[in-house]
Amino acid sequence: MTATAAPPRIVVDVKNVVVEFGVPSGKVRAVDGVSLSVNPGETVAVVGESGCGKTTLARAILGLQPIVEGTIEVDGTIVRGTSRGLAERVGIVWQDPYASLNPKWKVERSVSEPWRITGKSGDVASLLREVGLDPTVMSRYPHQLSGGQRQRVAIARALALRPPLVIFDEPTAALDLSIQAQILNLLKDIQRDLGCAFLYISHDLTTVRYLADRIAVMYLGRIVETGPTEQVFENPRHPYTRALLESAPTLDKLGHLPEPLEGELPDPTTRFKGCRFAGRCVRALDVCRTQDPGPSEEGQHTYFCHNPG
Ligand SMILES: Nc1ncnc2c1ncn2[C@@H]1O[C@H](COP(=O)(O)OP(=O)(O)OP(=O)(O)O)[C@@H](O)[C@H]1O
Ligand SMILES: [Mg+2]
Repeated sequence: MTATAAPPRIVVDVKNVVVEFGVPSGKVRAVDGVSLSVNPGETVAVVGESGCGKTTLARAILGLQPIVEGTIEVDGTIVRGTSRGLAERVGIVWQDPYASLNPKWKVERSVSEPWRITGKSGDVASLLREVGLDPTVMSRYPHQLSGGQRQRVAIARALALRPPLVIFDEPTAALDLSIQAQILNLLKDIQRDLGCAFLYISHDLTTVRYLADRIAVMYLGRIVETGPTEQVFENPRHPYTRALLESAPTLDKLGHLPEPLEGELPDPTTRFKGCRFAGRCVRALDVCRTQDPGPSEEGQHTYFCHNPG
């Protein structure tokens, strides 16, 4: 028998995942039937307004958040809670570096902790150099670093075990614009050099366009449009994606907050009948209020809308 090389497996495969939170008025479906996959070495961005379920989705992939329906596979293994194996396969960088770094530990301990818990070893100095830090920072505490340096330390820690996937949850949202640009360039370099896949969560469409191969637009717990980044930016089909793109700050609008979308954000405890965006949608038809739109596909570009633009 001749051995044929197995195709590289999907790094993360999320299928029909539902996450619910109990609240006094009922249950919030923070993630309501999301399917999403990331291929080896690919950057997939998840974008959408605050509260649409991005962080909850990330937590579910990390095994930190129980799911009530669906399956999540990371590198071929089903996620069931947190485990050492999962920690070796997914790195995470949160918006707030203090969520990734223990303030009482020196940098050296924080970045080498993943090696310690998995019985591995590595060179802290070269890991710090990889993220553009001088190795002397290893003897400092997080509060003795700048915000950008702290985020670089968090990135180093996420890369320590060379996971096939790193999740970034708004990693530059708390940084100044010039520092944001440096971190984005660092992420591009890391991906070129290490070839790991990124799942990149952000509100910031400009950043996403720069980094992502594919983009998934999320609205109230659902992915409403997904496709290759340039296709979605150049030819957005879902009215929500259009609204997001129109409200995104451009150079001439920089410094002004984007206009909020028209219409009311529905009560998240509602079980939706029809399209969940219908109440805010300028293109809504009668059918939109009664029938949940199924997928429409144009090559790799998929959207869920009865009356696309
Ligand atoms: N622990 C919780 N208990 C109850 N509801 C929660 C909990 N965590 C999140 N939610 C709700 O789930 C929904 C999705 O929240 P999530 O934090 O995932 O959104 P997000 O897209 O990450 O928002 P942001 O852009 O502000 O970070 C929101 O309605 C939120 O209020
Ligand atoms: Mg979030």
